Amino acid sequence: MKVAVIGSGGREHTLVWKISQSPMVTKIYALPGNGGISDIAECIPIGSEDISGIISFCKESKIDLVMIGPEVPLSKGLAETLREQGVPTVGPDSKCARLESSKVWAKEFMIKHGIPTAGYKTVTDKNSLMRAVDEFGLPIVIKMDGLCAGKGVFICKDMEEVESAVENIYGIATGGKVVVEEFLEGNEASYMIFTDGQSYIPLVTSRDHKKIFDGDKGPNTGGMGAVSPAPLDVGMDEKIKTSVIKPLLKALKNEKMHYNGVIYAGLMICPGDDIRVLEFNARFGDPETQVILTRMESDIMDILVPLGSISKLPSNYTIKWNDGVSCCVVIAQKGYPNDYEKGVHIPNLKNIKTDKNEFIFHAGTIKKKGEYYTNGGRVLGVTAVGTTLNEARKKAYSLVEKIAWSSSYYRKDIGLWR
Ligand SMILES: Nc1ncnc2c1ncn2[C@@H]1O[C@H](COP(=O)(O)OP(=O)(O)O)[C@@H](O)[C@H]1O
Ligand SMILES: [Mg+2]
Repeated sequence: MKVAVIGSGGREHTLVWKISQSPMVTKIYALPGNGGISDIAECIPIGSEDISGIISFCKESKIDLVMIGPEVPLSKGLAETLREQGVPTVGPDSKCARLESSKVWAKEFMIKHGIPTAGYKTVTDKNSLMRAVDEFGLPIVIKMDGLCAGKGVFICKDMEEVESAVENIYGIATGGKVVVEEFLEGNEASYMIFTDGQSYIPLVTSRDHKKIFDGDKGPNTGGMGAVSPAPLDVGMDEKIKTSVIKPLLKALKNEKMHYNGVIYAGLMICPGDDIRVLEFNARFGDPETQVILTRMESDIMDILVPLGSISKLPSNYTIKWNDGVSCCVVIAQKGYPNDYEKGVHIPNLKNIKTDKNEFIFHAGTIKKKGEYYTNGGRVLGVTAVGTTLNEARKKAYSLVEKIAWSSSYYRKDIGLWR
């Protein structure tokens, strides 16, 4: 089979690597891919948001299966357009992707179908926003409605931070809808499933570190590292299925949403094991995919092929997992998530040897004449699987130390929870 993976991040490198393990696969293309992906697949210089470019390429090259990584092409309708053109595709259509692309829509969906989430109000201007802040009290969470690449959520502990969020939201444009939401105290976890809208296959749990600095300080990022499984109490997996996944599946059926792909539930586990959904994503998480797929022993094509070709999951299928722990440490370019330099040489990267439980997934890299250079803020996701969290962390960090370049930055406390 010829497979095309859409995207250029660490998530897509991990997907390409996992798909390449399958005996069903003869050729993999990545559109557009990155430096690391180019070592195991053919990278085609077509951007992940170039819908017509992707369609033409997939038709001309007679691609047997497309796997879409990022949210923007999903929200622009790439999945349904490919399917209309007869190209087997894994990824939800743009209507189903509203679970992620509109926070207002997702909140209404959750409330309507009894999926536990934080109390909220939708507002459309500064005055109603301020009234909602008054009503809920501080701290307060303010979320922009559309896709914002992780930059549309403001957690405000005082009025100064509310003012600055308002400035951000209504200062630039007139702004659209905004969700004002009660602040929840607790521990986060990510729970992903494959679903065809009728049934689901769960993936293992994970937890990521979103803040830039150690101790979960500083601004949010796309994710600075992750661990799988998430450090949850015994029995939580079942509880998440009962209180979130089952009502979610029922809701998809009731709304006749023919979902196709992955749903990611971002959860807050509040005191008393009270589970609330912070958000849904319509795709794999990044860097959660790195820690999840490195623990997956089954062939991912067992799921992707039927989902892509007939929009159905295989029946009675259980994924086999490595019961160890996986840890991913992201190495970024100094300055991220603000301005940073691109094109920095990563001198040691090409010489690094890894064993079968160590993986270097590339995100923002480019390869030129056999050498790797940075090409984005989050550059590498160094991942290791061990029998314990401690072992996985040690292995990942010892690799990180060998690769880190002089202007690189990484958190030292990935996998340490307080
Ligand atoms: N109601 C809430 N209470 C506390 N923290 C929240 C709440 N909603 C979001 N957050 C924090 O903000 C982060 C980003 O919010 P999320 O809804 O996942 O938006 P996005 O991923 O689109 O930026 C979450 O991972 C969580 O850390
Ligand atoms: Mg999120």
